[in-house]
Amino acid sequence: MHILHIVGARPNFMKAAPVLQALSVHPQVRQTLVHTGQHYDSAMSDVFFQQLGMPEPDCNLGVGSGSHAQQTAAIMQAFEPVLLERRPDWVLVYGDVNSTVAAALVCSKLGVPLAHVEAGLRSRDRTMPEEVNRLLTDQLSDLLFTPSADGDENLIREGIEPSKIHRVGNVMIDSLVRLLPAADRCFPGDIPLPYALVTLHRPSNVDDLPWLQELLTTLAALSTQLSIVFPVHPRTRQRLQQLALADIANSHLRLLDPLPYLEFIALQRRAAVVITDSGGIQEETTFLGVPCLTVRENTERPITVTLGTNQLVGRDLRKLFSAVQNVVNGGSSRAATNPCCVPLWDGHAAERIAQIIVRRSAR
Ligand code: UD1
Repeated sequence: MHILHIVGARPNFMKAAPVLQALSVHPQVRQTLVHTGQHYDSAMSDVFFQQLGMPEPDCNLGVGSGSHAQQTAAIMQAFEPVLLERRPDWVLVYGDVNSTVAAALVCSKLGVPLAHVEAGLRSRDRTMPEEVNRLLTDQLSDLLFTPSADGDENLIREGIEPSKIHRVGNVMIDSLVRLLPAADRCFPGDIPLPYALVTLHRPSNVDDLPWLQELLTTLAALSTQLSIVFPVHPRTRQRLQQLALADIANSHLRLLDPLPYLEFIALQRRAAVVITDSGGIQEETTFLGVPCLTVRENTERPITVTLGTNQLVGRDLRKLFSAVQNVVNGGSSRAATNPCCVPLWDGHAAERIAQIIVRRSAR
């Protein structure tokens, strides 16, 4: 049995690593790993492969950046001959990035069975490129692995055949569980406690320059009360170059390059509060019991709000300011949630996926 995995962007790697590992214990399974090259910087890709213990990709499509149409089309064009040559029994795609939807389209045109890991998430905001990627990928998939019950409900509502849906839990948490001990040894020595950890890269936050300027001015003001550590995504770095950063120069807002997985997990675990627009970080902070303020109007991960530590602050900077002050004043305690309080976020989601695929192919 031959399984081909597609990865391309940073958030794919920690999801694919445990699935590759779980399938490797089944002797009848042969695996191929294809990297689209959507993320190509060493800090966004290679270091994640090393720390997650992933095999070198069998093939790198080397597509790089571009507009959404260019990037998606380039991945489709480069992936089609690979798929025709390798002819796997299943293709596994992860999450909601452009690499995922591009590979899903190629599989459906060539009639190759497709499984989507992290299916069913919905923000109901179609201005997000990821939401469109999720909707299309789920419609095209033959097997849909969901992390939580809301995912199943969304898929049923959209008319997906229930027998295709399997609630397996959260593969990203599998990587977190496995690597937390190693991460604890990677806490950057020069970060003073307590601190807030910030990440921002969504187009809705960083491509709107007046808003990004306001957000940074607010963070700079907050940093006089609580020091702020901000590893900057390449997309955000490009936008910051277009802003007046005088406020920041005189503040305790520390801008870093993107961090490797272990260092970033270590920073998350010890943060007093995390301020982010990432999807995965909402989940990781829920698992770790760290308060999270999400700078978005909506989330495709509502369970992090209902069962976790996550709070949506949207574009309300006063809400952001007072929520951080609340943390500074000790009002928002850490460990408001216990690890594993979300059902099936237990470090074994990938094993469940492997069993389902292997059992299905044995029929
Ligand atoms: C992509 C995903 C997003 C995910 C994020 C995590 C889509 C639609 N978006 O967004 O869901 O949360 O990755 O990082 O797939 N760049 C570099 N080096 C790199 C990668 C990117 O410099 O290694 C720069 C490029 O100039 C590029 C920009 O960052 O134009 C954006 O990269 P892209 O992959 O298009 O989207 P992300 O914003 O990273």
